[in-house]
Amino acid sequence: MPLSIGINQIIGAITLESFSIPQRILHWLTAALVLFNLLLPDGMNEWKRAIRHTGTATADQVAGANIHAYVGIGILLLVIVRLLLRHKSGVPDAPAEEPAIFTFASKLAHAILYLLLIAMPLTGMAAYYLGYNSAGNIHADVLKVILWAVIGTHVLGALVHQFYWKTNVLRRMTIG
Ligand code: HEM
Ligand code: HEM
Repeated sequence: MPLSIGINQIIGAITLESFSIPQRILHWLTAALVLFNLLLPDGMNEWKRAIRHTGTATADQVAGANIHAYVGIGILLLVIVRLLLRHKSGVPDAPAEEPAIFTFASKLAHAILYLLLIAMPLTGMAAYYLGYNSAGNIHADVLKVILWAVIGTHVLGALVHQFYWKTNVLRRMTIG
């Protein structure tokens, strides 16, 4: 009996209440960079148009495209750090108030987000540096739309937590 109390106390002590500060910083930094590339891809699009129509681009057009490219590569690097941290420090359990089906849906949405944040930069790099137009089409026409849809669902889920189930999910990804 004393042994089982001891184990429960140990498990209680190691259960995570919140994401770690580096995990929280990385989440919001990544979110800001992803929204930047989603909302302001004009420099890259202009470079793409110039290459398609004239086969060449001006130094300004290349500089504009490089901002999109470097931000996207930055996202890929941050996601790799994030996944390593996640593996090392773990994440808090799903809140008990949440129905099981939603726990499954949010885990699925997070997995898809991580996959997209790897696939977007890789397809972009294949198009920009290696000239694979089909990768560019997947990047700009398919993955972009899926990314918007999953981010929309993700934000909606966070709001349902905050205002309907009134859980601490938003808090543990912000002030902790
Ligand atoms: C715009 C781009 C965004 C991306 C790519 C993104 C991505 C992610 C990912 C991958 C996770 C899973 C973390 C993990 O378990 O390792 C996560 C968690 C979370 N995100 Fe976002 N997110 C974005 C925006 C937002 C916004 C705008 C909000 C707030 C409304 C938000 C609120 C949260 C919360 C509260 C969690 C923690 C969920 C939990 O505790 O299970 N995210 N996000
Ligand atoms: C998560 C990171 C990224 C996001 C969210 C993103 C987002 C976008 C968006 C919204 C567009 C415009 C699509 C349209 O106008 O319909 C675009 C186009 C493009 N992006 Fe990215 N991008 C990312 C990373 C990258 C990287 C790392 C590169 C290259 C190094 C890149 C290269 C391109 C290219 C070449 C296009 C034009 C594709 C075409 O029209 O065929 N992107 N990207």
